[in-house]
Amino acid sequence: MVAVLVHGGAGPRRDQEDPEGAKAGCLAAAEAGLAVLARGGSALDAVEAAARLLEDDPRFNSGTGAVLNAEGEVELDASIMDGEHLRAGAVAVVKTVKNPITLARAVMEHSPHVLLVGDGADAFARTRGIPAVDPSTLITPLQRQRWLERVRSSGGAGGGHAGPKHGTIGAVAVDARGQVAAATSTGGTAGKLAGRVGDSPLIGCGTLADSRLGAASATGLGEYIIRVRLTSAVLNELSRGLPIDKACQAAIDDLVRIGGDGGVIAVTPRGELGWAFSSERMAFAWARGDGSRGAGFENDPVSKP
Ligand code: GLY
Repeated sequence: MVAVLVHGGAGPRRDQEDPEGAKAGCLAAAEAGLAVLARGGSALDAVEAAARLLEDDPRFNSGTGAVLNAEGEVELDASIMDGEHLRAGAVAVVKTVKNPITLARAVMEHSPHVLLVGDGADAFARTRGIPAVDPSTLITPLQRQRWLERVRSSGGAGGGHAGPKHGTIGAVAVDARGQVAAATSTGGTAGKLAGRVGDSPLIGCGTLADSRLGAASATGLGEYIIRVRLTSAVLNELSRGLPIDKACQAAIDDLVRIGGDGGVIAVTPRGELGWAFSSERMAFAWARGDGSRGAGFENDPVSKP
């Protein structure tokens, strides 16, 4: 059974949030990924398509609409993994690329490396024909305003006591051949120090896919997710025979144990979908080949696929 499951970030509930908009954005991305699978595309193609849509949606903290660092700049991180061949690609601290997930895939497919960072990653994009965008085009008025508010309240740069803002995006998919893939993309945390890298571009932390077990994508504060290797924990639990929801919950329980907060989504090669989150909210949606669809935002009852 082909299926795509996406998330639009886990974090604290904020007054001005738009749960219906977040769910609609996630559902549109899941549908985009499923359309790729319906045309016979691979799970890898599907997660890239879904992630690109979310990166272009200014409601989410990735690509256009990403949060700003302490200097008022966008620095983007992303990774993608093909569970069939255990190939992976990732980028971090990218400033001039509209769709970092596609650059991560280019690193995987057209370089001998797994992770490129900073100016080298932006330069590699040019060698692959990925055009440079003016970094200001990635900044939305809302994120500029939030950065200015942080600067005013801290009396200097927009870092320091800015609370974490989640909104990382991710996708997992299983294709008709039972192969799985995962993708994750983020602007990181608001007010982060320039050069900070979170979990999203780190294989086994923000993203992991292995078609013998499943695929997973994480969201939440990277400083904690890295330490529990969240997506790796999910696949480890699957390898021990746990059902997918319990595998996700066990990984999140470990995150909470060390003071972290976040969420994770996962898929198995058999098309089972699972998720868990400790945060007040996580936007997510799925679409399956049998026509079933669903979306959620908070821990309200959601009919499981
Ligand atoms: N989970 C996204 C980050 O911490 O950068």
